[in-house]
Amino acid sequence: MSNSEQLERQTIPFDSQWRFHRGDIAYDGEWVGWNKSGVCVQSGSRKRLDDSQWRVVDLPHDYAVESPIAPRTDAKTPYEETPEIWDMGDMSHLHGSLATGVAWYRKSFNIPENDSDKRIYVQFDGAFRNSRTFLNDHYIGDHASGYTGFCYDLTDCIEYGGANTIAVRVDASEPEGWFYEGAGLYRHVRLIKVDPLHIAPWGVYVRPDFDPANVNRATVFFSVNVRNRRERAASATLRVRITDRNNTLAADTHCMFATEAWDDTEVIGSLVLDHPHLWTLDDPYLYTCTTEVVSDGQICDRLETTLGVRSAKFDASRGFILNGASVKLKGMCVHQDHAGVGSAVPDSVQEYRIRRLKDMGCNAYRTAHNPPSPELLDICDRLGMLVMVENRLLSSGPEYLDQLESMLRIHRNHACVVIWSIGNEEFQVQTRSDGVRIARTLCHVAHKLDPGRPITLALCTWDQIAKRDFDLARLLPISEQVDVMGLNYSHQNWLEYHRLCPNKPFVVTEDTSSGPTRGCYVRDDEACRLSFINPLADAAFRPEENWRLVAQNDFIAGLFIWTGFDYRGEPTPYDWPAVASNFGVMDSCGFSKDIFYYYQSQWTSTPMVYLFPHWTHPGNEGKPITLYAHTNGEEAELIVNGTSRGTQRTPPFGHLSWPDVPYEPGCIEAVAYAGGREVARHRIETTGKPHAVRLLPDRMSAVADVQDAVVINVAVVDNEGRVVPDAENRLEFRVDGPIQLIGTGNGNPSSHEADKSSSRRVYAGWCQVIVRIDSQAGLATLTAASDGLLDASCEIRIDRK
Ligand code: GAL
Repeated sequence: MSNSEQLERQTIPFDSQWRFHRGDIAYDGEWVGWNKSGVCVQSGSRKRLDDSQWRVVDLPHDYAVESPIAPRTDAKTPYEETPEIWDMGDMSHLHGSLATGVAWYRKSFNIPENDSDKRIYVQFDGAFRNSRTFLNDHYIGDHASGYTGFCYDLTDCIEYGGANTIAVRVDASEPEGWFYEGAGLYRHVRLIKVDPLHIAPWGVYVRPDFDPANVNRATVFFSVNVRNRRERAASATLRVRITDRNNTLAADTHCMFATEAWDDTEVIGSLVLDHPHLWTLDDPYLYTCTTEVVSDGQICDRLETTLGVRSAKFDASRGFILNGASVKLKGMCVHQDHAGVGSAVPDSVQEYRIRRLKDMGCNAYRTAHNPPSPELLDICDRLGMLVMVENRLLSSGPEYLDQLESMLRIHRNHACVVIWSIGNEEFQVQTRSDGVRIARTLCHVAHKLDPGRPITLALCTWDQIAKRDFDLARLLPISEQVDVMGLNYSHQNWLEYHRLCPNKPFVVTEDTSSGPTRGCYVRDDEACRLSFINPLADAAFRPEENWRLVAQNDFIAGLFIWTGFDYRGEPTPYDWPAVASNFGVMDSCGFSKDIFYYYQSQWTSTPMVYLFPHWTHPGNEGKPITLYAHTNGEEAELIVNGTSRGTQRTPPFGHLSWPDVPYEPGCIEAVAYAGGREVARHRIETTGKPHAVRLLPDRMSAVADVQDAVVINVAVVDNEGRVVPDAENRLEFRVDGPIQLIGTGNGNPSSHEADKSSSRRVYAGWCQVIVRIDSQAGLATLTAASDGLLDASCEIRIDRK
């Protein structure tokens, strides 16, 4: 290894082998508190504490989802009784009825003697929440937000040539939102070793500026924060290089600069990319920008940042414009938890979720209502998904300004991020002058940190306290502060707003909850299951009216549906014993509800037709059943047991239905036509009894990396291999080889089964298992068994990293 390579930064994943303790550490008789030297000793942080009995966990880790569901003791419903005061009883229910509280994480690591000339940072992508970090008995810092990343320079407190202990206390007792939020070190952590002259954490900002009127070039502005922790001033050069996907140089430049000892220096410049390959939704092309700090002829630091060249604008009459062309935002609001793993979603499961959204034709993702992990945005960059990144709270107090700044600094290099949102439904202040001033301050701060991107704020025309709708005009002062007006719900106000403010770009930040429970066609209030056709489901076909309105009005940049996936907490429309929402277009595992196919029929052009409900209704022979279809074909025909029940033209923005078809077991088919030709067919057969288990892994191979995970969908099938639509069998899972089962789910919003268990019932035919990959290569097997069913197993090949 050459000298210059040795000097470069090392980024070491710091996710494995943490010792974990649920609850606080009891006072053990020794003095606890702050002593005179400034060294803090809190029981759980003490270096010599014996943590050998603590459980070993790998990150990401969410300890809330490990808790049993806590029975609801208070009788209140979250919103209805005391909407102005959500007490903690309500809060626990809103958070999924899972215990949170305090926990400790500790990790030992060695730092060799020859690292003593390095600066050593620890970087957290997020910890839920109120974290307090210690190193070797030293108090390092507190971080309140559960959603923003943070980074500490540990250098002074490191023991070189020996063992170090980092201890993190998290306290998730106090929530930040009204939905499931998880608890613990639920995102990645890394250790970074750098030369004292280095690029500061999140210190690179690259901003490609591309004008579609001049496709031959793009200017890339950069601003790099170089930190000098040497004892002397330095003269240095910043080299900036942009390479394409094939690692071919596309542009480069350099800037000389001088930096005083212990200064942070902002080095700014620009370079020109000729004939840039644009980042688009179908071809999300990414360049790499390498920034190097060179001093005394040696490379001191080098960092690679991904960069996509595109122009993204919001226009008051044309809506959202990507690279010069209008693109309707077909968006979904998404909370960050997933079945089985809570908030600790492995990157590959994040990718699974984004791919599911893309299958539906969704092109935009709103990180409701908090900043996301950087890995989520990496995936959106790579797969071509536009993102609205949202701040947690509209507040300009120092803590929240800091959160806004962190969000921008950490996420502003992502091509996928096309707009910031500075808050959601801040009904207490959105109509008041203080709210206007706060919004103005946040916009100033955000524009300074990221001049290119527009800002919105998700406003609402309802009054939480008085429980009524109000005059839209009351929102005009605050909407003037932001670049793009964002409105949640109240579709009657969309056109009205445009009439009042024709020069303001407009986006529907939230609307059109879908409501039904996956696979449910007969409403069951006791089981908290809502069927598709149901007045409670916020008018089953409201999505069609809303989408029509969005699609037919160019000024509306797009719509973000509430929500892409069911999520834990905020149980709606049912209260306890429901513990999760029913809002998703998919359930919490990512299994499609019927409405998924409505959006697919509107948002994709590959011919499709989807017929529902299923055709297994024993005991209902001869009774009428209405059949529905979603299709992007011009027309579709229903065939029941070989007999046509008629062809219908697909109404614009609508669905097809064949009322009162007498149930006769057998086979139903929907055949879609375009220009009189069959383009798609969906066939459903009456199934027999549960007979066997079927496993459907999303991949057959993975890499030996604890950060990788595989999603395995599990169905119960009859003796012909057909998924039994009402199967609820309990399955037992066993893993062999280098994988670990880290969670199961089934999408049933009132399931009280443990997610961290090797046993799970299927719900409406399906459940899901998530396995994390170990660090050894080899062959791994998941086996599923159930009394009275044939077992199934699947193999996953784990390749060396
Ligand atoms: C919205 C809110 C969401 C969710 C939803 C439930 O008003 O922004 O977070 O609570 O209501 O209907």
